[in-house]
Formats: sequence, C-alpha cells, structure tokens
Amino acid sequence: MPRVRADIAAIRPYQVGRQLADVARAHGLDPSDIVKLTANEGPEGPFPGVVEAVMAVIAGSNRYPDNDCWDLGHELADELGVDFSNLMFGAGSVALLDEIGTAMGGAGTNFVYGWPSFVMYRFVALWAGAEGREVPLDGDHSLDLGAMREAIDDDTTMVIVCNPNNPTGTIKPADEIEAFIDGVPEHVLVVVDEAYHEFVTDPAYRTQVPMALERPNVVVLRTFSKIYALAAHRVGYAIARADLLTELRKAQAPLTVNLVAQTAARATLGQPEELERRRSLNEARRHHLVGALAERGFPMAESHTNFAYFELGDAAGEIIETMTTRGVLIRGMGGGWVRVTIGDDEENRRFLEALDAAFENGR
Ligand SMILES: Cc1ncc(COP(=O)(O)O)c(C=O)c1O
Repeated sequence: MPRVRADIAAIRPYQVGRQLADVARAHGLDPSDIVKLTANEGPEGPFPGVVEAVMAVIAGSNRYPDNDCWDLGHELADELGVDFSNLMFGAGSVALLDEIGTAMGGAGTNFVYGWPSFVMYRFVALWAGAEGREVPLDGDHSLDLGAMREAIDDDTTMVIVCNPNNPTGTIKPADEIEAFIDGVPEHVLVVVDEAYHEFVTDPAYRTQVPMALERPNVVVLRTFSKIYALAAHRVGYAIARADLLTELRKAQAPLTVNLVAQTAARATLGQPEELERRRSLNEARRHHLVGALAERGFPMAESHTNFAYFELGDAAGEIIETMTTRGVLIRGMGGGWVRVTIGDDEENRRFLEALDAAFENGR
C-alpha cells in the first residue's frame, strides 16, 4: 500500500445518507416509494425554467465551463446588492469549506466550531491538518458563542459559525453574532455558514453579508442546494471582501463549477415569488410536523429551517431501522437525537405514520 498521510488514513469516512437503491434492494421496496428525509433537500423539483435552460446548453459540453462564473456571478451580485468581486463560487459550499480550510489550516493550527453542527466541519479540519475544536451547544441546542470565543487561542486560524445551525435548526440573533465577530482577533477567519438563510423568517435573525463586506476576516457561505433545490448540481458561493477572496482562491482548483451547474443556478435567479412560495410552504409544513412531534411529547430544538431535530432516546437506532423497512429514511445524529427533513405533505404524512408504527412495534 502507498503511504497515505497518517492523519488521513485514520479518518472514518463520512456516511452520505443511505442510497435509495440500496434501501430498496434490502427491503424489497420500489425506489420511487421511498421517502428520503435525510439530506435537507427541497421536496419539489428545480425552479421553473431550469430544466429547459440546462437542456439548451448541453450541446456545448465539449468546452470547459467559464472559470469566472461571469454571467452567474453578475446576476447573483445584482440580486444580493454586492459587487461581482465579492463572490467566489464552488462545487457546493462543502467544496468551498474544504478549499477555505486548506488555505487556513496546516500543522499546529486549530479550527473552532459548535457541536453538534454540520458534520463536514470535522472533515474539513482533518483534511486541512488542523485540530477541530468542537464546542458543545448550549441548553437550547444553539451555538454557545461565549464558549466558542473562549476556545480561540493563538493557534486558531478559523472559526465556523453555522447560523441557522445544522442539525438543530436553531438560530442566534444577529446582534449576538455581530458581538461575537467583534471579539474575534482579526487574524482569525470567521466563516458564517448560511446554508439555510432563505428559510428563516424570525426578525431576530439577520444575514452577516454586511459584516463580510466590511470586515477583512469574515466570509459568508450560501448554497443553491437547499431552498433553490439544485443539490444534484453542486453550486455554492462565498461572499467576502475581494482581497480576502483573492487569497482564498489560491487553494481552489480551476473550473470547479460545471456548465450545467452554472446554467441551472442562473435560471433559478430572478424568481422572488417562487422563492417566497417555497419558503412559506416549508414554514407551514414545518409548523404542522413540529406540532405533530410536540403532541407526541418528543423533546425538540426550535427549528427555523427545513428540518427538525428531536429526541427519540435510547431506542433511536432501532426506530430508525424499523422506519427504514417501511421506506422512510431519517437521520440519527447521536445521543438519541434524530433529524428529519421537512418533506412535502405526503412525505410528512408517511413519516408520522412510520414513526407511530415503529413505536407500536416496539411495545
Ligand atoms: C450547514 C450546511 N452547510 C453547507 C452544506 C452543504 O451544502 P452544499 O450542497 O452547497 O455543499 C450543508 C448541507 O447539508 C449544510 O447543512
């Protein structure tokens, strides 16, 4: 065997949610009958016009894509009210995190982030050769910003603030995030991951894009994978000052956002009514689902996103397995807590039915 870096060889690979085909085969189910609520994807297809736009560019597949994402970047910059030079695109925000981690990590460095938070932060730290400092959430399952500040030391090069936080769906008020950023030394990069930004309606929440435009050490991450329903195409973007992005880009391979992805993302833009429709639909469905879970007495975090985080206790693993045999997939997050994505009405009905049936079986 070639000598793989020892810290990479020691990694236990990330478990992407079980593939539909595997589950279908294992339990004799039709893949189209499986309800996948494990990855916080949009339950509806892409925005109107996306499929047609993508089909129209496929014939140009022999050419490399636009490395600068010029058209997408200018259209998105207009929509966000930022300059094109304030945007950096990647093959999903996970790829951007990896690249930013590469730029900021190295032997002797550490990255600070909440826990539980987005599982990939742990991998980003490992890949970057940095120590991952995982700061437990507070009693409300939200980021403990005071403890995160205390975890920062001279060797910290990056702090990741997931707001709203995955897997809990909780938010931190904007003034608390801003005060936190104020207290972080300027040589430390603050990454504010706003993957679920578009779902939030609580007035205490605000984006940190203005901070990212003002401060030399703040970058905001967004994605087209969630409310924009383009998870398959892998498009995410970073918003920051142009001078910071110039540095971070040095750790990115060229041509990472492919032609279909750029086209699909462009076709999604400029549809505020559709965006609002999906936001309010998600909110109504979440309200219903969270209400149903509360009626059943499960402890829960307060979600502002397209997923809910609740406690099943010691039986969590068994319940998840039983639900899987009925074709309903949810995600165990450790410690008896689970995360379920808000699906469409039928998916949510199937979820509650399978959950109830799993409890019936257990008795
Ligand atoms: C907090 C958070 N950040 C980033 C991502 C990754 O999104 P992308 O599909 O753009 O890589 C996710 C996806 O689940 C997420 O939950």
